[in-house]
Amino acid sequence: MAANGSWEEWRWDETLFAGAAAHYLKGRLPYADGLADALTEALALDGRGRLLDVGCGPGVVTLRLADRFQAVVGLDPDVDMLDEAEREAARLKVTNATWVSMRAETLPGSLGTFRVATFAQSFHWMDRPTVAAAVKGMLEAGGSAVLIHAPSYREQGVVQTPTQDPPHPLPPDTAIGELRRSYLGPDTRAGQGIRNSSPDGEDVVFRAAGFAPGRRFIVTDGRVLERTADDVVAHTFSSSSTAPHLFGSRADEFESELRNLLTQASRSGLFSVRLPDNVITIWDLDSGATG
Ligand SMILES: C[S@@+](CC[C@H](N)C(=O)[O-])C[C@H]1O[C@@H](n2cnc3c(N)ncnc32)[C@H](O)[C@@H]1O
Repeated sequence: MAANGSWEEWRWDETLFAGAAAHYLKGRLPYADGLADALTEALALDGRGRLLDVGCGPGVVTLRLADRFQAVVGLDPDVDMLDEAEREAARLKVTNATWVSMRAETLPGSLGTFRVATFAQSFHWMDRPTVAAAVKGMLEAGGSAVLIHAPSYREQGVVQTPTQDPPHPLPPDTAIGELRRSYLGPDTRAGQGIRNSSPDGEDVVFRAAGFAPGRRFIVTDGRVLERTADDVVAHTFSSSSTAPHLFGSRADEFESELRNLLTQASRSGLFSVRLPDNVITIWDLDSGATG
């Protein structure tokens, strides 16, 4: 492993999100309300065709888009994530979703062809040139690959004006980061390895695979959401860098210290976050190209 733990030298392994699935739906911030409508317009969806959601986790995006397609397929190597997705589909009474346990690098498998492939906060974990090329081969003529990104609420900043002050403090992310480092060391852990950086340049990757230049747009959000201490704990355990498996037998100890820290940060036990806008990039198959 490289001393600096760069993403180029990091190697994927199946413990990447081990133990995180149970915390994911509770802990992660929701995507913008307007996401499905924005994608329907941008991709001219008409209810036909199939969606492949690559790195679907517990199926948040798969299920959000299920009524825009004939059928949707969520793909993820983490079977606990897929169990959550299946439960969520039943809860939401979605009947056109199926779930496939595999790594994106082993596509195409025998999954057939798709109108759209989505990657919601998942592409950066993959061997991107391999996966972009495989997905291109699975898209029908006129098909598209879509990246969905929700930056951290801190990256966007919370506007602090008298009329817009959130009612509760922000989650104490700096202190949570310090607590993480006191347990897991200074590097950002990911599975069995270290990953202190993340790739960019997705447009180069998709264009090299034969897609047209990406078209990028924003789906605005900005809602202020109330978060309980339980939500913040779940958010912490849903992240690969603080996934439960990393703490081994010290997971309970870490959680108890985290809860103390949250109590100190908010006497009411409540926190506020302003939801980030979602950044969407669409790569269409070059005209005339089929998958
Ligand atoms: C941050 S989660 C995003 C989950 C979901 N798409 C969402 O937006 O809520 C990243 C997901 O990518 C999956 N993943 C990571 N590496 C992958 C790979 N090589 N192939 C397929 N999925 C992968 C993980 O198992 C995890 O469920």
